[in-house]
Amino acid sequence: MFLRYDRPMIKAVLKTVGALLVLGVLAVGGVYLYYFVILPPNIPATDLDVEITPARVTRGEYLANAVFGCMYCHSERDWELFGAPPKPGTLGKGGEVFDQRVGISGVLISPNITPTGIGDWTDGEVYRAVVNGLHPDGYAYFPIMPFDVYLHLETEDVYSIIAYLRTLDPLPGEYRGRRLTPLMEFIANSRVLPADPWDVDHSDPVSRGEYITIIAGCRFCHTPANERMQPYENMRFGGGLGMIANGRKVYSANISADPETGIGSWSVDDFVARFRAYENVVIPVSEIGYQTQHAWTEYAKLTDTDLADIYAYIMAQPPVRNEVNLLGN
Ligand code: HEC
Ligand code: HEC
Repeated sequence: MFLRYDRPMIKAVLKTVGALLVLGVLAVGGVYLYYFVILPPNIPATDLDVEITPARVTRGEYLANAVFGCMYCHSERDWELFGAPPKPGTLGKGGEVFDQRVGISGVLISPNITPTGIGDWTDGEVYRAVVNGLHPDGYAYFPIMPFDVYLHLETEDVYSIIAYLRTLDPLPGEYRGRRLTPLMEFIANSRVLPADPWDVDHSDPVSRGEYITIIAGCRFCHTPANERMQPYENMRFGGGLGMIANGRKVYSANISADPETGIGSWSVDDFVARFRAYENVVIPVSEIGYQTQHAWTEYAKLTDTDLADIYAYIMAQPPVRNEVNLLGN
């Protein structure tokens, strides 16, 4: 009785479950296809010819060395010195390894971006690598190379950086061994986007400072984030983001406007002086007692104006009360 009456219903239920399963498999398969086969989007290299002017080379050198971090990732760094400055004579030659020692499950090696490495790329191909994260062969870079913020670079700044890269000494160095897990490939492919230059109001220090803190990574590193590295924007500049330097975890400082747990009691001159203290100074890690990921020796070359703009932007954000112990508890 029971079975006879309910069989059609069981059948209906099974059919529905089956249909849902098929749909589920199709959806998962679709997402998989989308990210591994269809993505990364094909953003063609533009037909670009960057004129190398002295003004561009000077600006590009400043941006690549002091502001946006290109050269401290694309050189051999001296991890025995505080802030790990690039070793002399290695500017642009690449070779820094990012693997499980800095919390990455695959292996990435910063490529040689001197003319030896990318000298035969067109300007359009270099532009696309930096801003869209695509290799000339079409594969996407992992966003340790922060193309997902460089897409907001002002176009003229990218041109300046390209002009500067063209003037670097051609240094030897070719690196193999890049290895991405499927998840990393998924992340890389999903970050490739068209250029979207930040709309900077050049008459406003806060707007200029916002541009630098986003692209130089200050805002990212100094804002706590969840385990998927999504920042808690209501705690912007509140510090406490953990990162590994020389095998040991270090937490970013609270640089928000909070007077007690942040830097709210610092004047703009205090702020500038904090950075200047590392100009032309190299301090062995052993003297400080810990290594950091904050590139003190490079940021020491920031101009007074840029530092004052960064300060103006930070002070214009709500203060965040958050006691940070730089070396954890
Ligand atoms: C945090 C480290 C880091 C920073 C900062 C960084 N890069 Fe990279 N860059 C990398 C890594 C790692 C790769 C390789 C990524 C991969 O293979 O998935 C890369 C790839 C590249 C490539 C492609 C080279 C090739 O042979 O494929 C270029 C060009 C480049 N970066 C230029 C720049 C410029 C210009 C800047 C500054 C505006 C910059 N990078 C900042 C780490 C960095
Ligand atoms: C890769 C991550 C990273 C980036 C990018 C970064 N910082 Fe830091 N910063 C840290 C860490 C970690 C510390 C704490 C350890 C130390 O003193 O170096 C720190 C310390 C500081 C301090 C010292 C605070 C104090 O109380 O003495 C200031 C100021 C600061 N950062 C400002 C900045 C600014 C401005 C930028 C952008 C130009 C920036 N940081 C970019 C990680 C970073």
